[in-house]
Amino acid sequence: MRIFSGIQPTGRKHLGNYIGAISQYVAAQDRGEALFCIVDLHAITVPYEPTELRERLYDTTAILLAAGLDPERCMLFRQSDVKEHTELTWLLCSVTELGRLQRMHQFRDKSLSQRELVSAGLLLYPVLQAADVLAYRANEVPVGEDQREHLELMRDVARRFNARFGDGEEVLVVPEHRIPEVGARIMDLQDPTRKMSTTGAGGTAGAAGGQGTVYVLDEPAAIEKKLKGAVTDSGSEIRRDAEKPGVSNLIEILAAVRGVVPETVEAEHAQARYGEFKTAVAAAVADYLAPARERYVELRADEARIESILQGGAERAQAIASQTLADVRERMGLGAPRAGGPAATSGTLDTVRR
Ligand code: AMP
Ligand code: TRP
Repeated sequence: MRIFSGIQPTGRKHLGNYIGAISQYVAAQDRGEALFCIVDLHAITVPYEPTELRERLYDTTAILLAAGLDPERCMLFRQSDVKEHTELTWLLCSVTELGRLQRMHQFRDKSLSQRELVSAGLLLYPVLQAADVLAYRANEVPVGEDQREHLELMRDVARRFNARFGDGEEVLVVPEHRIPEVGARIMDLQDPTRKMSTTGAGGTAGAAGGQGTVYVLDEPAAIEKKLKGAVTDSGSEIRRDAEKPGVSNLIEILAAVRGVVPETVEAEHAQARYGEFKTAVAAAVADYLAPARERYVELRADEARIESILQGGAERAQAIASQTLADVRERMGLGAPRAGGPAATSGTLDTVRR
């Protein structure tokens, strides 16, 4: 079983990332051969600062290490270090439908909110993401709910490639997504109708100063303040209900960090008031994030070690990806024919080789 996931080098990872994705990455190390890629090539599809990008990439790497990714038990690497990702992106473009890319939710949202240039990279973002996974013939992709559409496209691209170039064989593996049952979509604490994100409600520029988003590196006092200030709903019952998005989100958060089902949280807090309940959630979240925050400082300080981990990961990853690319190029009729490749038996290629 090979497991692959990618994460943006935004540096400020939040509770939604941690619950929805990072905790699954850590568990994946025991379930199979795991690869985790920090996707700097995806980050350049929107406006960014080159010097900042390297810093944020180190921040993100240190957060992943602090959360429990172990370079001995997984391959942790930087996307731009493995050139096979970009090459495969271009090759997969030939089996990707343009209209489908234009209809992707993320492309529509990001291109509408973009004040500067809407880059072609933003449109091709999902093809690069498909290449990330397909280059490793990964079986499983742990992600949060917001990546479902990207995973569907990736599966279609793999199927279409196999149908067009596979000659009856599964040259590229059609991967399965792994979206957690609880915590796949943590919502903003100030506006529980939208997902928690780095640009949350009352975001950095707003008066509330990002009060809707709990960051992995937040101090316990900040976590407590944000959770106690979380928007709840009218009524006083602690139960999940479409009409109660604020309380439902807090129930989901507490269930996820404690590793129990939401029903357990509802039963245990049936008699609690909102205020008491929020205090309990705040304490649990602070405890949940504390070990990673404490380990982070030391890990982040050693940039030479981070670089060497990333480079070691990239070397091992590339050894896998280069084999896939050799097969893909051969199947697509690109480059010099490979001895023993599927096309090598054909008469025309024999002529070429002589
Ligand atoms: P990103 O930081 O955008 O690269 O996201 C990294 C991972 O976190 C992806 O697998 C996302 O699906 C997941 N994720 C992002 N936001 C949330 C959220 N609010 N709740 C749960 N998972 C999330
Ligand atoms: N698009 C993903 C996100 O924003 C990050 C990502 C890039 C990814 N490549 C991937 C996730 C491959 C899973 C597999 O979160």
